Amino acid sequence: MNASSSTLEFPVSDPLSYTAPVASTCSSGLSAAPWTFDGGVHTYGPGASLLDIIPSAAPRQGELPDEYRRASASDLDLRIRAAKLALGERLVILGHFYQRDEVVQYADFVGDSFQLAQAAKTRPDAEAIVFCGVHFMAETADMLSRPDQSVILPNLAAGCSMADMADLDSVTECWEQLEELFGTEPDAEGRQPVLPVTYMNCSAALKAFCGEHGGVVCTSSNAATVLKWAFERGQRVLFFPDQHLGRNTAKAMGIPLEQMPMWDPRRPLGGSSAETLRNAKVLLWHGFCSVHKRFTVDQIRQARAQHPGVRVIVHPECPMDVVDAADESGSTDSIRKAIEGATEPTAFAIGTEVNLVQRLAAQNPRHTIFCLDPVICPCSTMYRIHPGYLAWVLEALERGEVLNRIAVPEATAANARIALERMLALKPPAQPATGAAL
Ligand code: 13P
Ligand code: SF4
Repeated sequence: MNASSSTLEFPVSDPLSYTAPVASTCSSGLSAAPWTFDGGVHTYGPGASLLDIIPSAAPRQGELPDEYRRASASDLDLRIRAAKLALGERLVILGHFYQRDEVVQYADFVGDSFQLAQAAKTRPDAEAIVFCGVHFMAETADMLSRPDQSVILPNLAAGCSMADMADLDSVTECWEQLEELFGTEPDAEGRQPVLPVTYMNCSAALKAFCGEHGGVVCTSSNAATVLKWAFERGQRVLFFPDQHLGRNTAKAMGIPLEQMPMWDPRRPLGGSSAETLRNAKVLLWHGFCSVHKRFTVDQIRQARAQHPGVRVIVHPECPMDVVDAADESGSTDSIRKAIEGATEPTAFAIGTEVNLVQRLAAQNPRHTIFCLDPVICPCSTMYRIHPGYLAWVLEALERGEVLNRIAVPEATAANARIALERMLALKPPAQPATGAAL
């Protein structure tokens, strides 16, 4: 892609020169040398997800060659730029907002997970889509792009601990219990007893489950629209894996909390009585994001005390009491838009991943922007993408070698695409993801 053809709404100007006002971080090792955590150590590494165990079926990153681990930042920068130049139109790089600036600067498109899913469809001419984000995002890009395009995840250890909290076996087991309880017959209005809705943050297998059972995918930017669609077709919704996005969205739609029981996959009937489930409107899977669950109402109180008039905006993956105490909540892109749309200098306390917060602070110096959580914990899995891995996969591509390809088997992808396309059809086409400066 020609870089100059991107819309430069979200420029990353000289990101390497920016030092963010970080109070303290829970780990510096992950940012400097994420390869230390590849291979043998079976955790996602330090950070918010320190104790998460990588599921045995998750892809594993092999050892990054020494030359990339030892290269200086400026050497890696030169090598990445040279490889991008050589690959030209054959390559497109997508970057999620939570990626560190050292990586975002190379992305052709930067956006939230919905925008990046759209972006994956917009470059059918590119041979390779390098996805600087996490595993479920790369899977989605693979399913929405052309079959002959390769989607590459520079570090295979970049998973999502929330996505791993629901797997096909336990969702199928839950579904069987619900079918036994409710039967499978639609009601007089043609609505099936339960309709599955999955957050984008899940495996392709779960997206396929939704496609196969009349369900749909949602992201944090369209969850309310998707739930409305689901209630036209289902008497109840089984929402996985993020309980918080499900609860916050359903509550804003006026559904009482008593009608949103939690489904704990380790307990019979998810831990609820048959009567509670019969009265339910939304069954919430017991999943959460380790990064967003760190935000608290106390942090909001402190921000308000220290910055009178502060606008508090949080991501809907935060717990309900935090969303309720905030002034606004929304997806990563809506947080960005709220800040950029503020005409008067404003103090913003933001409850989402710190890389995005720091970038927004650097790009909007007229505002005071800070992360609600004074102990800065980045998303440890997003952090697994370091320029060293990017240089490694790009230089291999230049030699004609495709490393770390994410390829969803067609048997799964076919059904998953149904659920994804249902979601994409609900939103008017293309606000394109914002383009980054190169
Ligand atoms: P967005 O859909 O807002 O980009 O969020 C993705 C994500 O993983 C947030 O934790
Ligand atoms: Fe997953 Fe949370 Fe990281 Fe998003 S921020 S990728 S939900 S662990």
